[in-house]
Amino acid sequence: MISMLHFGDSCEKSGESPVSHIIGLFNQASSQAKTTLTINLCYHLAQQGKKVLAVDMDTHAWLTKQMNVSPDEFLTTIYDVLVNQEPASIFSNDYQFDFIPANKQLSTLEAVLSQSNDRQFRLKKALMPFLKEYDYIMIDCPPNLGLLSVMCMVAVTHVLVPIETTEKGIQGAKDFLPTFQNVRQNLNKKLKLAGVIPTKYDGRRSHHKLKLETIHKSFSKAKIPVYPAIGLYTDFENAWDEAKPLAAYNSKHIAVNSLKKIAQELVDLQ
Ligand SMILES: Nc1ncnc2c1ncn2[C@@H]1O[C@H](COP(=O)(O)OP(=O)(O)OP(=O)(O)O)[C@@H](O)[C@H]1O
Ligand SMILES: [Mg+2]
Repeated sequence: MISMLHFGDSCEKSGESPVSHIIGLFNQASSQAKTTLTINLCYHLAQQGKKVLAVDMDTHAWLTKQMNVSPDEFLTTIYDVLVNQEPASIFSNDYQFDFIPANKQLSTLEAVLSQSNDRQFRLKKALMPFLKEYDYIMIDCPPNLGLLSVMCMVAVTHVLVPIETTEKGIQGAKDFLPTFQNVRQNLNKKLKLAGVIPTKYDGRRSHHKLKLETIHKSFSKAKIPVYPAIGLYTDFENAWDEAKPLAAYNSKHIAVNSLKKIAQELVDLQ
């Protein structure tokens, strides 16, 4: 069941750390499992006792739809936060993490804010009040390098890059690197690349094996951590259709362990 939280409603942040990890899941290519991983990692971080907020920054609002409610039913969304600079309305879900929804109105943001000098900093500013409340803020980024993605890169401490084991996924990740450097140099000096996560990997396909090797070679050479690959499994689609994290759909699924481990590694992120 979805319910709206009033600021201060939620239980205390678990750790001692004064700074939340703010992690953007980004790949310029579409269908790389950004939304899937955002939701599943939020779920496992919450299971590990962390206080977690998910933020939907995609105009298609898939993260919001996966919370099992129509995006048009929300009276305030991330759009109101970014454009009208209203305090964010936070919602809770059945999986012990909170979220800020989006809907298709977000697609007008770029045009509406075109004259605003501070536009790139608006998400960062909007999340400030939540740093004391949450251990992790996980941002589901859109599959392009427009203003919404730049806002995400300015706001986050780390980027995690899911990469489908295909050429499209690899290119989407590589094409992002110059923008990453640029944002780090000019807009967010603390920005770090937490690593890449190969996704939808089918070890029976030689093509996938080859692409996984390429991912290891190219990113490890650049000293970018490569997480263990997440396999291609129909149960991810089945869980998606029921708007559930994989573990809530099938707690014994083999990929649940991989997701848990990645979530554990995020706890040690510097
Ligand atoms: N490991 C996996 N095995 C099989 N299917 C998967 C896996 N991971 C994700 N999927 C499926 O792939 C589809 C796309 O995933 P998702 O929406 O998370 O990608 P995305 O990168 O967020 O896409 P977009 O760029 O459109 O935002 C979904 O239907 C999801 O269920
Ligand atoms: Mg998505």
